[in-house]
Amino acid sequence: MSDARNWTVLKFGGTSVKSLADWRIIHKRAAGLKAAGKRVFIVHSAIRGISDALDALAGQAVAGRADAALEPIFERHRELAAELDLDADTLLAVEFADLSRLAAGIALTRDASPRLKAEIMAKGELMATRLGAAWLNAQGLATHWLDARDALTAQTDGPVQGYLAVDCDHACDDDLLARLDEEASGGVLTQGFIARRRDGDTALLGRGGSDTSAAYFAAKLDAEALEIWTDVPGFFSADPRLTGSARQIKALSYDEAQELASMGAGVLHPRTIAPVRRAGIEMQVLCTQRPDMAGTRISAAPSEDAPRLKAVSVKHGVRLITLETDGMWRASGFLAQAFEPFARHGVSIDLVSTSETSVTVSLDADPSLTTDLIETLETDLARIAQVTVIENCAAVSLVGRGVRALLAQFGPAMEAFAHYPLRLVSQAANDLNLTVVVDGDQGVALCRRLHDQLIQPKPLDKTFGASWREIGESPAQESALAAPLWWRQKREALLDLCPAEGARYVYDLDTVRARASAIAGLKHLDRGFYAMKANGHPDILQAVAEAGMGIECVSLAEVRAAMGAAPQLTAEQILFTPNFAPRSEYAEALKLGVHLTLDGLHPLKHWPDLFAGASVTLRINPQRPEGHHKHVRTAGPEAKFGLHADEVAEAVELAKAAGATITGLHVHSGSGISDPEHWRRVGQFLSETARDLSDVKVLDLGGGLGVDEASGPRRIDTDALDIMLGELKAAFPDYEFWLEPGRFIVAEAGVLLARVTQTKSTPDANFVGLATGMNSLIRPALYGARHEIVNLTRLEENADWIADIVGPICESADKLGTQRLLPETHEGDVMLVGNGGAYGRVMASHYNMREPADEAVI
Ligand code: LLP
Repeated sequence: MSDARNWTVLKFGGTSVKSLADWRIIHKRAAGLKAAGKRVFIVHSAIRGISDALDALAGQAVAGRADAALEPIFERHRELAAELDLDADTLLAVEFADLSRLAAGIALTRDASPRLKAEIMAKGELMATRLGAAWLNAQGLATHWLDARDALTAQTDGPVQGYLAVDCDHACDDDLLARLDEEASGGVLTQGFIARRRDGDTALLGRGGSDTSAAYFAAKLDAEALEIWTDVPGFFSADPRLTGSARQIKALSYDEAQELASMGAGVLHPRTIAPVRRAGIEMQVLCTQRPDMAGTRISAAPSEDAPRLKAVSVKHGVRLITLETDGMWRASGFLAQAFEPFARHGVSIDLVSTSETSVTVSLDADPSLTTDLIETLETDLARIAQVTVIENCAAVSLVGRGVRALLAQFGPAMEAFAHYPLRLVSQAANDLNLTVVVDGDQGVALCRRLHDQLIQPKPLDKTFGASWREIGESPAQESALAAPLWWRQKREALLDLCPAEGARYVYDLDTVRARASAIAGLKHLDRGFYAMKANGHPDILQAVAEAGMGIECVSLAEVRAAMGAAPQLTAEQILFTPNFAPRSEYAEALKLGVHLTLDGLHPLKHWPDLFAGASVTLRINPQRPEGHHKHVRTAGPEAKFGLHADEVAEAVELAKAAGATITGLHVHSGSGISDPEHWRRVGQFLSETARDLSDVKVLDLGGGLGVDEASGPRRIDTDALDIMLGELKAAFPDYEFWLEPGRFIVAEAGVLLARVTQTKSTPDANFVGLATGMNSLIRPALYGARHEIVNLTRLEENADWIADIVGPICESADKLGTQRLLPETHEGDVMLVGNGGAYGRVMASHYNMREPADEAVI
């Protein structure tokens, strides 16, 4: 009998076998395991890109272009072989010849059956593994090349056995174990994705095929462990593309992993879990690019005793169908009747929620759900109830063992969505998943918000590891704008700048210039204005003017400060957007000749004489609030800003009567928005509103451009913004488009420095007291904003202590951060609060007669 538990199965995907560097990593891991007395079984995919090329080959061959399609495939293998110091034409002679023959066959018959397609696709794995095994052997690591089809057999539980998406038998396989004992005293290397049908033909495992192959092999060998090597270091608590504060999940139980994989986490195919769970094999997801980093461990054991939220995910393109009828009340059999048409049309239901008189079901996005199919379904359902279909919803799911017990924590996070309808709430019977369905465009924002409020690390956390941003994989950091955080580089200067007793804002003018130039340099933006309400420091105003931006002001005092600090700006480069300001400010602004935006009827109605001969812009309320917090959403039925659409006609009449011309329209609907599509919607809305207003030349899309925040929102992608603006301009060539960002220009350029005054520990919490608090930075108290906080004095020390960072103000809300991971902190240390450049000092107060932080530039 073989020592079965001795096997470790390693699976590598197409991106992990594409170069010599990748193969060195595979070798290191395999050799390491071998030295530790394990037997290694490697499963891997075709080289990245080859499966797609083979998939296309059949089509090309039908069209008579087989040779042109084959050559790049051969060439790619020759390339990798050369890098590995191998000769592809010798090693792969059989596969190359087979492929040519198969392609020629298709070209002749003009028919690519699923059988032939499977045969062709399988070559990708066969070729790649031939090279891999030869190279490992050349390195002295004895490796037996196994044809996976001789070990994996497709299940036959239907009359027609498919070719392209089969499941395989995976009970512990003593024959295979005995065979390997005999033939493979060293390690084994084989293909993912392929298997054999009982009739001998090649079959494919379909989507997630290689992961599934590895899980099957692990189960068949009763392996000790399964390692899935991929290009991310395991599962994350959210999609890192949505929030950089997504945290690596250190450990998951099988059922949590299954739930997350099914929610579309993308790291692992959900099919992979069942075989290893049944066999009780521990599984790890690891990253080839970071081989030394611990990934996610998946096993029967939960990571900790208490219920814990593990992840928040969002699914788009969800469709809701509601059936309403009073025939349901106390009637039996209604649900069976209601679900029957779904079954008949092969439509799979994801979530269900019912009341006494209605049933709502959700359908996941699925290309097979054609409009025709939905209409037919609707017609059938209409026979038993009144049917409503809502398209394009988003399902946001909270996943973790015992989510039900965590419900009470979710309240504050949901509060921000009071404006938006929750279309459906569903709690899974397995208590692993709670899902809410909202309108499509709210999904990402809700997901981020729930994630960032609810997923907080604890000291010595067994569940969560580093955040995506900390791991340094943040895609935003690849953007040209994102140098490493400037304050890390200028740390020594900052430590010197922090006053011994007080606090100070410090602004980095290089960062201001970089951001302002990025906006001024947008190819398709006609003009950019810096919203100085974010930060009115004169050096910043001068820097943005030098970079080519104008300035947007909200009070006459701001207009004067802008003119004083940047005298090179003409009145024409200043935009004045007052709200409920007194008459005198309008009169003065018109005298100065700056652009003036009106956001109500009152000025035109009551002071018409001011506007004779003037050009003005109208601010419109698009009725659709956006932004990071309800306090910064400046549109919607309750907002005090802007004219409602049905007031525009009256404004036009009043302007005409006063002798004024309306030359611009403006919308600013909120602050802290990361999706460029927002400004596209605004642009479309404004150009529609402008259709009947022939003097309008300018459409001002407002500000609100988001930055990277510790709470998750991401810096707006200026390249994507530019592309969007280009499309907008192409669609509406008659208009100039303007933007007026504030936060984007300055937030990341500023930090708040403050000394630690005292510390305190209670049985439940640690407190770090600073020389300043909400009197200098009110954003955490006012918006629940999360600013990064570090101990600048002890930047290199291990952060394994958790504390609330508080100020000296007599208010419980005087907290700059709660539950933050820090190194143990002491009196006199310098603490740094990040993203302090926008809406920091400008919103400061003298509450408690405490001077707020002063300002310096660096
Ligand atoms: N334009 C108008 C008409 C605005 O009202 C604002 C901001 C902006 C532009 C600039 O928005 P930004 O690009 O900075 O998001 N105190 C809050 C933000 C309030 C924003 C008020 N209006 C905060 O700290 O988040």
